[in-house]
Amino acid sequence: MTHSEQIAIFDTTLRDGEQSPGCSMYLEEKIEMARQLERLGVNVIEAGFPVASDGDFRAVQAVSEECKSATVAALCRTIVEDVYRAAEALRKARKPRIHTFVATSDIHLEYKLKKTRAEVLRMTKTAIRAARNFADEVEFSAEDATRSDIDYICEVFDTAVDAGATVLNIPDTVGYTLPTEFAHLVETVKKKVVGDKPVTISVHCHNDLGLAVANSLAAITAGARQVECTVNGIGERAGNASLEELVMACAVRADKIPYFNTIDTTQLYPTSQLLSSIISFGVQPNKAIVGRNAFAHEAGIHQHGVLSNPLCYEIMTPESVGVPSNDIVLGKHSGRHALHSRYEEMGYQFDSNEITEIYSKFVALADRKKNIYDQDLLAIMPSRVPAAVAA
Ligand code: KIV
Ligand code: ZN
Repeated sequence: MTHSEQIAIFDTTLRDGEQSPGCSMYLEEKIEMARQLERLGVNVIEAGFPVASDGDFRAVQAVSEECKSATVAALCRTIVEDVYRAAEALRKARKPRIHTFVATSDIHLEYKLKKTRAEVLRMTKTAIRAARNFADEVEFSAEDATRSDIDYICEVFDTAVDAGATVLNIPDTVGYTLPTEFAHLVETVKKKVVGDKPVTISVHCHNDLGLAVANSLAAITAGARQVECTVNGIGERAGNASLEELVMACAVRADKIPYFNTIDTTQLYPTSQLLSSIISFGVQPNKAIVGRNAFAHEAGIHQHGVLSNPLCYEIMTPESVGVPSNDIVLGKHSGRHALHSRYEEMGYQFDSNEITEIYSKFVALADRKKNIYDQDLLAIMPSRVPAAVAA
């Protein structure tokens, strides 16, 4: 299938991901992650928030020098000094992007910013104009967009576009929205603000209700052409939309999401593993795409099905996401087929009478023991020289 339009993948693992508990990274680690993200094929790497700390400033500088193909983005508030700091950190980037943001919801304006709506409009205009002196690509985010007044967001976005913003980002900062509602917001911005202007609509979803990926997909269908996400879904609180889930949803359901992206999906698992080795936690075993059990089958019926044809229970192959091979876990729910297949992988051949006999020992053992290892299988089988050695 040929897809005419591209969805840009904006990775914020090094910024929104890194700022969450247990996820801080040293400079060298950020550089290593940035290299891997380029190998993966992301279009934009958000490398930090330069005004927040010297460490973030240096990270943006270093990633800017390192990246060859990806655009490097630096975050800043709609404050001119922040914009200068971001611009300075991005000086050596081949493709720099300044990403400036301000909250637009009444609750943030009243309690956090203590600003009026008119003041936020002025800040937006001034910051974007300043940013355009340093970068051709300027992204503007309306923080807490999903809890903001829709007419006001459109007004702020109109101001941003007039001032020179090239990307309008709609964040679901607190992970509050629902797919249909979010799609409506994106459609409204597309119709009322963007029209046929050369401006990209982006979305940035948090996962507080477990909907970050679903909301991002709904947004694509409604007109967003950039999605912001993180490896393993790390990020503030319950995290950001998971890059690997988004990309594989687009790949597996290309029939319904007919857009292309530049991700090499076989790099998804290596990227996930690299991040887990850097930060202080990995993913849960049942995490979609990259979890230890994502391609593991234990129930006998499932194992038989997968061994006969993986499509019975797998909608994508482990190889397509860079997982070495499918992982049949032997346990008390496993059937004869899986047992036989494991012996064959270990290099042993048995006829069906022998397998029946071994299988009854296996079931008795599996009732007593949670995990069955290859040594256990060796112990319950008749003595035999492995085929490879015998030959
Ligand atoms: O969640 C959020 O609103 C953000 C913005 C800075 C884009 O991270
Ligand atoms: Zn965020």
